[in-house]
Amino acid sequence: MRTITLINGDGIGPEISDAVVKIIEASGLKIDWDIQTAGEDVIAAEGTPLPKRVLDSIRENKVALKAPVTTPIGKGFRSVNVQLRKELDLYANLRPCKNLPSVKTRFDNVDIVVVRENTEDLYAGIERQVDSDTAESIKLITRKASERICRFAFDYAVKNNRKEVCVVTKANIMKLSDGLFLDSYRKVAEDYRDIQKKEILVDNLCMQLVQNPEKFDVLVLPNLYGDIVSDLTAGLIGGLGVAQGANIGLDYAVFEPVHGSAPDIKGQNKANPTALLLSAIEMLKYIGEYKYAERIEKALFDTLREGICTSDLGGTYSTTEFTGKIIEKL
Ligand code: NAI
Repeated sequence: MRTITLINGDGIGPEISDAVVKIIEASGLKIDWDIQTAGEDVIAAEGTPLPKRVLDSIRENKVALKAPVTTPIGKGFRSVNVQLRKELDLYANLRPCKNLPSVKTRFDNVDIVVVRENTEDLYAGIERQVDSDTAESIKLITRKASERICRFAFDYAVKNNRKEVCVVTKANIMKLSDGLFLDSYRKVAEDYRDIQKKEILVDNLCMQLVQNPEKFDVLVLPNLYGDIVSDLTAGLIGGLGVAQGANIGLDYAVFEPVHGSAPDIKGQNKANPTALLLSAIEMLKYIGEYKYAERIEKALFDTLREGICTSDLGGTYSTTEFTGKIIEKL
């Protein structure tokens, strides 16, 4: 039996993790979940939101499924998510955004994959207080990280029969940092003759995404633009409740939804487990369990096709009712 680390998170995390574990169990696949708590709730007892035992567990099991955890705003602890990505060198953040059955949105032909660089840019955490009225953050871009994320995007395109990889920057203004990212893309792109290339500025991309999203295929972006644009593309397919994600490195992979811990609906049995479930389906494919991944995906899509969904998608079903309907199909 395969052991997988499960970080069940806080906020709505435990509710949606519980749903996903039950759905996977109902599919017939047996997984030994190594459950690891993290986030706000463990700070008091362990002095950190990301105890070493969580990292040790992922290092041992190689793969983790992660529900969202709260990052307190302002002073205090660094984001668990940012730390996880840095510690395990999960350099690629992958966010496929494709329309789902019966989920009504403004567009019905969205099929975009956002590949976001996950380790540097303004998220490197290099900040200083210059004086009481001035703060400074460093935007760190290296050739090594830029080339490997561009290569990841092109390799993904080749493996998944995608046609184009478009690089997104603001290189007209940040000529050195974004210029280096663009230059790295151009260099890597030379190795992929069969994939079409495109270059676009991030502001123009945002406008075009809300007008003609069908024009885009695979996007590769530095960290900050990737963070913002992937929320935009999540909105194109029905919002955060259905947006999946994965953080992938050479040795480890952590699958998690795009959304956060949604404290506003915590404990109300309202959260949509779809984003975490889609992330889990990708995880099953990643570990080679295609049969179960397809079985669960079919049960989810059939359920949505019948108009059964949670309130974020305009439905009337609670988390547990929606989960129950998927389980019935399995
Ligand atoms: P959020 O994604 O938690 O919530 C934004 C809005 O979307 C809320 O109205 C929420 O109710 C709704 N929403 C999110 N997921 C939903 C779901 N599955 N079903 C139904 N509705 C859903 O973003 P917010 O409020 O900015 O962040 C809350 C906390 O989560 C913060 O501490 C933030 O740092 C953290 N966060 C954690 C992430 C992670 O663990 N990967 C990612 C993003 C934020």
